[in-house]
Amino acid sequence: METPVVSLTINGKKTQAIDGALVLDVCLQMGLDIPTLCHRRELPSYGACRLCTVEVTERGQTRLTASCTLPVAEGMEVQTDSERVVKGRRIVAELLLKRCPDNQAVRDLAAEFGVDVETVTAAVPRPDDGKDHDCVLCALCTRACATVGPHAIALVDRGPEMEVGTPFGRESETCIGCGTCAEVCPTSAIRYEDREAKRRVIKAGKTIRELPLVPCNLCYTLYTTEEVLDYVARKGGMPDGLPLDANYCPDCARQIRAARMGAGLLGLDFEEP
Ligand code: FES
Repeated sequence: METPVVSLTINGKKTQAIDGALVLDVCLQMGLDIPTLCHRRELPSYGACRLCTVEVTERGQTRLTASCTLPVAEGMEVQTDSERVVKGRRIVAELLLKRCPDNQAVRDLAAEFGVDVETVTAAVPRPDDGKDHDCVLCALCTRACATVGPHAIALVDRGPEMEVGTPFGRESETCIGCGTCAEVCPTSAIRYEDREAKRRVIKAGKTIRELPLVPCNLCYTLYTTEEVLDYVARKGGMPDGLPLDANYCPDCARQIRAARMGAGLLGLDFEEP
């Protein structure tokens, strides 16, 4: 069966793309530079930050829209760097800065888009309301947790009250302490800390989960939690326990894999440590 293809124009250049492809991906494949904050290819698109805004003309109508959630369409015309696009992205960056005026990642990002960071942030009130003023609500953490983890966190509440949280705002019993949320967070609003043989997942100063760390089978570095290993074994459907190498820290696992591969290439037996 033939793959359905659509024809469209991007920055005046005619191109073709697979029907259903996202405008952002097609633009990136063409080597165009489109900024993103809430997008990662391995996670479902969400369209939260609007930094990837492009100008789209279809059936005589032109609008600004997020390219990371927009599928290509026959006859579509896309502009990735028009004056309206550049201005739109700067406004988005300024709004993010007003939400998180003291977050360094957001300040750097706003400066990149030509926002006068000092002037804008000087006028922003800093309420001492115990709320999270580092989170841009990009939902990368919640999508990552739902995709690779046990879905321990979610966006809760609505409108200005919306935030990332655990059920009933309590310390989670579901979180396995994998730290994926922290790895994908662009503003370090959610992070983890490994200290005194424990991993603490923290958001806005509150602990989401605290779990003991377990050591690597080879170098004895504390590197993950028992809950992560259990989860990997269950998800991987491994009746006999964990997948190969899961009991080693990333460094040791890498070295073991390289040694195993080397032995295989030379036709030698490899003795697992
Ligand atoms: S990257 Fe497209 S809306 Fe955030």
